[in-house]
Amino acid sequence: VEVIDMNKSAPAAVESKPDFGYLLAERTSNMGASIIRETLKVASRPGIISLGGGLPAPESFPLEIIGELTSRALKKYKSLVLQYGPTEGFPPLREALVDLLAGRGIDVSADDIIISTGSQGALLEIGKILISKGDKVAVEAPTYMGALAAFNPYEPRYLSIETDDDGVIPESLDRLLSGHRVKFIYLVPTFQNPSGRTVPDSRRREIAEIVIRHQALIIEDDPYSALRYRGKPVPPIKIYAPDNVVYLSTFSKILSPGMRLGFCVAPPLIKKWMVLAKQGIDLHTSSLDQAIASEYITGGYLERHLPTIVDVYRPRLERMLAAIESSFPDGFESSHPEGGMFVWAAGPDGFDAERLYWKAIDRGVAFIPGKYFYTEKGMGNETMRLNFTMSDPETLERGIAILAAVIKDEMN
Ligand SMILES: Cc1ncc(COP(=O)(O)O)c(C=O)c1O
Repeated sequence: VEVIDMNKSAPAAVESKPDFGYLLAERTSNMGASIIRETLKVASRPGIISLGGGLPAPESFPLEIIGELTSRALKKYKSLVLQYGPTEGFPPLREALVDLLAGRGIDVSADDIIISTGSQGALLEIGKILISKGDKVAVEAPTYMGALAAFNPYEPRYLSIETDDDGVIPESLDRLLSGHRVKFIYLVPTFQNPSGRTVPDSRRREIAEIVIRHQALIIEDDPYSALRYRGKPVPPIKIYAPDNVVYLSTFSKILSPGMRLGFCVAPPLIKKWMVLAKQGIDLHTSSLDQAIASEYITGGYLERHLPTIVDVYRPRLERMLAAIESSFPDGFESSHPEGGMFVWAAGPDGFDAERLYWKAIDRGVAFIPGKYFYTEKGMGNETMRLNFTMSDPETLERGIAILAAVIKDEMN
């Protein structure tokens, strides 16, 4: 055993700090820094109106009942909530989710439901068990970058499915599946991040028919369907193709993103391997947080609080859409979501939304250039993602007015 004499000064050769870059695995470079996060660093300067971020409003959190929920959970489950628990999830939460999922049209038993550390945790498990280097994964164009961040370490190749105002175009999906063997199709069919678009019911049925015919697997990521401000709910694709869909959802937008609670219903074989993958990732999701979420549902708190969240966001979305309508110049189009957290705007062909970004920042408004949500270079240069959850209606209106003025300058 070598004894280190702490009184001795370090050898002269070790003056500079070691550079461990050479230790990184080959695949690590695929992880990259999130361009969005880097872009948003500029946007977090004081005084900037940020339409860029994607956070729920702090005033949507049920702060005043968290103490009550925590003491209910501690009283009811005692040391169980501080102990290691099953990887599949805290049983009372899995039970409580049966009704919540039934309300979305998904009829399952508690055993069919697994809990994840945010839906991000489930995306990571899916990447880990399904993707081998070079495998093809089909995604929407544009798509959610966080999912790509979960899949990228496993080195897939992405194939884009074309979209229009109603989301994924079924014919494009059918063509893609006829020409390629894809590991899975990743979709956000309801109030998509980034586009805000929702795939209508008739298209969902077509998509289900296509994946059943091709014996393909969809990952249906649904963090936003509960945030509906108008219109009628649309059932998940899962109900039309139960054996071909892994359905993911989350408490991040209906309780708290900081608690990191997601849930998932997957075909049996996929579910089995997701649980094994999760064991290696984090053993299980926080027992105390799961118990709190379980009380949130069974005590009727979610049902009472959800309308409050919807009431915070509805006027924000309406004010943003009205401001876009009245101030953006001809040639600009925007999505008209009935829920979620994002509006998507597109300028005429050739318009450069990234150039606009820097000019808008100078005038005090931030957004995300849409091209970052595409897996193929050269796409979406004219597009932008606008978030409406993080500012009050008056600020949103001011932000859109400034953005419209910068756009007009840019177009002249
Ligand atoms: C489409 C989509 N999927 C997944 C997530 C991650 O959610 P969670 O907080 O449940 O990990 C988000 C978060 O914004 C999202 O927009």
